[in-house]
Amino acid sequence: MHGQHDGARGDPIPEAISAQAEEFSRRLTAAGPSRLAAAARASVDGLHALVAQLRPSVEEFRLAIDFLTEVGHYADARRQEWVLFADVLGVSSLIEDLNSPRPAGATPNTLAGPFYRSDVPDTPLGADISRDHKGEPLDVEGRIVGLDGAGIGGATVEVWQANSEGLYENQEPDRQPEFNLRGRFRADPQGRFGFVTVKPKGYTLPSDGPVGRLMSALGLGLERPAHIHFRVSADGFETLTTHIFDRSDAAIGRDAIFGVKPELMAEFRALPPLGGKRKYALDLDLVLCPSPAERTGTSGRR
Ligand SMILES: [Fe+2]
Repeated sequence: MHGQHDGARGDPIPEAISAQAEEFSRRLTAAGPSRLAAAARASVDGLHALVAQLRPSVEEFRLAIDFLTEVGHYADARRQEWVLFADVLGVSSLIEDLNSPRPAGATPNTLAGPFYRSDVPDTPLGADISRDHKGEPLDVEGRIVGLDGAGIGGATVEVWQANSEGLYENQEPDRQPEFNLRGRFRADPQGRFGFVTVKPKGYTLPSDGPVGRLMSALGLGLERPAHIHFRVSADGFETLTTHIFDRSDAAIGRDAIFGVKPELMAEFRALPPLGGKRKYALDLDLVLCPSPAERTGTSGRR
């Protein structure tokens, strides 16, 4: 938040909503333009518009302050209730969309979520990433391609997912082996990759805090449909962070953090049972787009 930006980014200053908002804006103008001042002005205008629309009582205002205070008290090194709040309002997803736009034909980018780990060891293509073999086997075969459909050889493909109970290994380190259901693959020269895993189950976001209570009071759920997370990086291309969702999951239309998009829904196909166990297969293409430098031809590769 330095002053070198034109604070208003060229946007017209909206008419003040209230006498207080107008005076706040006047004081900011006297202090000089900055991105921070523009953000403060827009925030105050938005808040005053909200108050003018809702006309909360003093008691309702106190309840709102109490709620926000409790959200803060729930946030610590292991639990970020503020992020959860932004997630369930769709704000985190909107910010991701605005900051990581993708051209038509490219796989949409989505939030990484809280369970990503960057320290997963290299994993051979075709490996079984289920280290406890609990759940229904799932064969995943995919290709990393560019917008022209050509394979991107050597792309790095990171994968992480919940187990058949909807839990990630770092949520229950005493029950699941380290790096369970995680992999870090290098695509072959044609951009192909594959691995064996188990079918993930969807899960519910933490409901024991103030955000969970708010959602419950609103009659809204905290479910996330079953999915596998991917992060794909390759020289000259935008890094893609995304999820692939099981389109048959009952919660597919009500993902609590608004991550589901049509291009990200896939069929987890049922295969003939294996030794009495149900088995599934998932085929997918993940489409990368060139990095901005490659698109404009202004500089070398990252
Ligand atoms: Fe997830």
